[in-house]
Amino acid sequence: MKIVVTGGAGYIGSHVVRALGEQGHEVLIYDNLSKGHRDAVLHGELVVGDLADTSKLEKVFGRFQPVAVMHFAALIEVGESVREPATYYRNNVANTLNLLSVMLSYGVRSFIFSSSAAVYGNPQNVPISEQEPLSPINPYGRSKVFVEKVLEDMSASQGMRYVSLRYFNAAGAEEEGRIGEHHDPESHLIPLTLKAAKGERSSIKIFGVDYPTPDGTCIRDYVHVSDLAEAHILSLEHLADGSESRIFNCGYGHGFSVRQVVETAIKVTGIEIRVEEVGRRPGDPPVLVAESTRLRQDLGWNPRHDDLEDIIRTAWAWERKQRA
Ligand SMILES: NC(=O)c1ccc[n+]([C@@H]2O[C@H](COP(=O)([O-])OP(=O)(O)OC[C@H]3O[C@@H](n4cnc5c(N)ncnc54)[C@H](O)[C@@H]3O)[C@@H](O)[C@H]2O)c1
Repeated sequence: MKIVVTGGAGYIGSHVVRALGEQGHEVLIYDNLSKGHRDAVLHGELVVGDLADTSKLEKVFGRFQPVAVMHFAALIEVGESVREPATYYRNNVANTLNLLSVMLSYGVRSFIFSSSAAVYGNPQNVPISEQEPLSPINPYGRSKVFVEKVLEDMSASQGMRYVSLRYFNAAGAEEEGRIGEHHDPESHLIPLTLKAAKGERSSIKIFGVDYPTPDGTCIRDYVHVSDLAEAHILSLEHLADGSESRIFNCGYGHGFSVRQVVETAIKVTGIEIRVEEVGRRPGDPPVLVAESTRLRQDLGWNPRHDDLEDIIRTAWAWERKQRA
C-alpha cells in the first residue's frame, strides 16, 4: 500500500516507517525536520515540508496517490504547551485540519492518528479504559482531544475512517540500534536516566517521592516502540479491510515506578546513577496504566517486548551510539 507518514523522521514515526518497509509498503515521509532527523528515515522517500504548507501537501498527494495516512507530526512537550498554547493548537490542531482537508480533496479516507494518554488527564479509574472520560489537563492533551473530536465528526459525515491510538509512554529502540529516541530537548525518563549513566547529566531528578504508590514515585506504562509499530500495522490492515473507525489504548496494562526504572537502568548499564529527589511537578498523575484488552482482542495485538529490561537494554544500546 502507498502510505503517507507525517512526522516519520521523528522517534515513533521512524520506527513505524521501518516496520512498513519490512512489510513491503511504499512510504512517503512528510516531515519539516523541526524535531526529526533525516538519518532516522530507513525506508521510503522523505519530503521535507511543513503541514502548514497546503500547496506542498497537495503536490505530494497528487503525485504519490496514497491510500492512507499515518499522522505522527506534532509538538509533544507538555510544559511548553502550557507556556505557548497557541503554538500547540496551531501545529497539533490547525495543521491536522489542513492535512485532513487535503486528504478529503484527494479522496484519501483512511487515517491513523497518534493520540495520547494525556487525553485522560487525572483519571478516576486505573487501569484506564477507552471509556474513561476525556479530561485533559494541559493544552497538549486538549490538542489531542480536539483532533479526536474532529475525526469523530468527519467519520460520521464525510466518510473518513480512522484509528486513534492513545499511546502511553513510548520507550526503547530498534533491536538493530539504527534508530531510537532522539528528542531535543529530552524530557522522557528512560533517555534522561541513560544520559545520567553515560555521564552526560550529573544525576536524574525524581519529581515527587510522596505519591500514593508502593515506593512513593509515579507509575507509568512503558510500551516498546516496536510494539507500537506493530499496533500501527494492525490498524492499517483494519482500515484496509473496510472496518469501522476505532479508538485504542496502547500500553501493556501494567506499570513501573520511577524508582523501578532507575534501578533497572542501573542493572542493565552496570553503572551507578545519581538520583536527586525533588518536589512534585504540577499535573503529574500518580499512576497512568492502560487497560489494553480492546487492542489485543479486536486487532490481535500481541506485544513482543513487554519487559522493562528489554526496553532499557535497547534504549541503552542506542544511547551509547550517540555522541554527547
Ligand atoms: N513519545 C511519546 O511517549 C508519545 C506518547 C503519546 C503520544 N505521542 C505522540 O506521538 C507522535 C510522535 O511522537 P514522537 O515522540 O515520535 O515525537 P517526535 O518529536 O520525535 O516526532 C514528531 C515529528 O513531527 C515532525 N513535525 C512536527 N511538526 C511538524 C509540521 N508542522 N510539519 C511537518 N512535520 C512536523 C517533527 O520534525 C518530528 O520529526 C506525536 O503526535 C506525539 O504527540 C508520543
